[in-house]
Amino acid sequence: MSTEKLIEVKNVSFRYRDDSPYVVKGINLSIKRGEWLTILGHNGSGKSTLAKMFNALYTPNEGDVISFGHNTKSSDTWTEIRRQAAMVFQNPDNQIVAPTVEDDVAFGLENAGVSYEDMRRRVSDSISRLGLEGMEKREPHQLSGGQKQRVALAGALALKPAVIILDEATSMLDPSGRAEVLTYIKNLHENENMTIITITHDVEEAVFADRLVVLKDGQVLKEGTPAHLLTDADFLREAHLKAPFTVQLTTELKKHGVDLRRDALTREELVEALWTYKQTH
Ligand SMILES: Nc1ncnc2c1ncn2[C@@H]1O[C@H](COP(=O)(O)OP(=O)(O)OP(=O)(O)O)[C@@H](O)[C@H]1O
Ligand SMILES: [Mg+2]
Repeated sequence: MSTEKLIEVKNVSFRYRDDSPYVVKGINLSIKRGEWLTILGHNGSGKSTLAKMFNALYTPNEGDVISFGHNTKSSDTWTEIRRQAAMVFQNPDNQIVAPTVEDDVAFGLENAGVSYEDMRRRVSDSISRLGLEGMEKREPHQLSGGQKQRVALAGALALKPAVIILDEATSMLDPSGRAEVLTYIKNLHENENMTIITITHDVEEAVFADRLVVLKDGQVLKEGTPAHLLTDADFLREAHLKAPFTVQLTTELKKHGVDLRRDALTREELVEALWTYKQTH
């Protein structure tokens, strides 16, 4: 991870109408190149509103958002900012617009004025990075939810963004679709060093991030690593969050005399910790 800040949020407040209350209140936050940031919070805590300020879909009423060096207040940089920060949303059926998978992946590029040759290259590259080879001619309605979200992600990647923002992109999927999409997000982060922002209300999805920002009522309640925050029983209580399954299990095992002696947040880490325990006891 570099120290270069791609997005800086400075004392930002936002309300939808002049006569309605602020739903984002005095937020400070920055996103560094190469990191995976998860914004975690309950329904209505302001996650989506904040995310839409990252790529200038909304602009702050107070404070500034500097995205890729541009203040989002000046509208002449919105096109560039939105190309750099691609978003994938919750509902797979609302995001697919074209009759085939490859046309859908190409859709954003057609609008961006990319040459035909470059477009072909980018589409096939994105399709292979999302494991969609062989599905190019498929009609999107024939795909599973997880596959549809992979198509949406491929379309976002084809734009060569600096950041991919996924706003509850797995929340409408079944467990296998969820796992499938998460696998590709992890892959983009780990193997391609892609900067990722995921937004979720689900602690189980917050375990993969490098850093967590927890929102409550439009404010940052706490910021830190998942290992720090999601194993902190006092904090979880204050935030009205339950511990991830792995942490719950580790805690229960300890009560029964099985002390794994380390925090296992992902299932892979838990399996490894159990294995190590088994070999030393
Ligand atoms: N278009 C809108 N017009 C008016 N109020 C809105 C609009 N969108 C969201 N709000 C309000 O702003 C607050 C924050 O909403 P936001 O959608 O940002 O929260 P969220 O954390 O993304 O919630 P969820 O988990 O439901 O997606 C809520 O009180 C919501 O009702
Ligand atoms: Mg939301």
